Amino acid sequence: MKEKLIFTNLVGEVVDGLVAELGNPRVAIVADTNTAQLVLPLLVNESKAAAAATVITVKSGDVNKNIDTLSDLWKKLMDMEATRNTLIINLGGGVVSDMGGFAAATFKRGMRCINIPTTLLAAVDASVGGKTGINFNGLKNQIGVFSEPVAAVISTIYFNTLPQQEIMSGYAEMLKHGLLENPDTLGKLLASSPVYPMFDATRLLPLIEESVLVKSRIVEKDITESGIRKALNLGHTIGHAFEAYSYRRKSPIPHGYAVAWGLVVELVLSHIILGFPSDELQRFAAYVLENYGAYEITCDDYPALVADMRQDKKNSSPDNINFTLLENVGVPRININATAEQIGGALDIYRDLMHIA
Ligand SMILES: NC(=O)c1ccc[n+]([C@@H]2O[C@H](COP(=O)([O-])OP(=O)(O)OC[C@H]3O[C@@H](n4cnc5c(N)ncnc54)[C@H](O)[C@@H]3O)[C@@H](O)[C@H]2O)c1
Repeated sequence: MKEKLIFTNLVGEVVDGLVAELGNPRVAIVADTNTAQLVLPLLVNESKAAAAATVITVKSGDVNKNIDTLSDLWKKLMDMEATRNTLIINLGGGVVSDMGGFAAATFKRGMRCINIPTTLLAAVDASVGGKTGINFNGLKNQIGVFSEPVAAVISTIYFNTLPQQEIMSGYAEMLKHGLLENPDTLGKLLASSPVYPMFDATRLLPLIEESVLVKSRIVEKDITESGIRKALNLGHTIGHAFEAYSYRRKSPIPHGYAVAWGLVVELVLSHIILGFPSDELQRFAAYVLENYGAYEITCDDYPALVADMRQDKKNSSPDNINFTLLENVGVPRININATAEQIGGALDIYRDLMHIA
């Protein structure tokens, strides 16, 4: 992977150093309506390059990660007479890095960019690995390219204004990385909590670094997701089904919660199909129940959930649903098929583990 990963709480200093290294190009900062207000002043205070930059503000939220906002972003780059040499700094969560990264990859056939993630999810996931893009025609991430930033400058200094729900979402991805890595990394995460007041942003940086390196090592082996990068889908097949179903029920659940519950069900499936150890499963489920609560379902919901899983783009046939599962902590297996009966059995055990009647 060419992307430089820098873990620091001296963000301003590091950004000025990077801009100097790149030959002091003109800089455009892409921020969303929230980060422009809450985070940009902090960066401008610490960085000469940021203070001199042109700021492009986009509307916040995944609903605005679309062609209209992107078009507006391209126009603003034209207004400032940006060239291929201009540097984009994406200051925000995954919406900003996905869309700003895509604008950088496409404007004038490609400019350089740096990601400064301001959400925990973007720090441990979206800002790393080079996936960029927008939602299109009602579907997520339909248009995009793989294009890595020059660097990701990852810190915890902007997390103080993050809503609790955003911390929970990022932490769920860290739990996934811990499960993919080894018992030691997972153990450290299970010994901490994403919930205030136990959550301590200042002590998080080493855990974030460990988590990002899990992702970057996997991405390095398979940038275009033809093989082992699929391991990063752990928890997401069921998680996406829970999320989609919750929207249809008109009682939406946040993405990170869906991933946390999806991880529990997929560990149960791992136990059924690959013999994942039951003590690890019980420990993980108890942690998720304590910190995220439970997503309440009954067996009447199973057919709709399985129907959603059949839509997953990873499946090769509608009869089998494709999963990434674990033989043990740190031992992922990709392209494992499960039947509707096996998934129903896993959902039964999930309900027991989560104390759902
Ligand atoms: N490219 C990838 O590999 C990848 C991986 C995972 C997710 N994603 C994408 O990332 C997006 C989700 O990312 P996200 O969870 O960061 O969402 P987001 O970018 O929408 O940020 C969440 C909310 O927090 C606000 N915010 C950001 N930083 C803040 C701060 N420091 N203080 C207060 N508020 C702040 C934002 O304005 C927004 O309202 C989705 O579009 C998803 O598809 C991409």
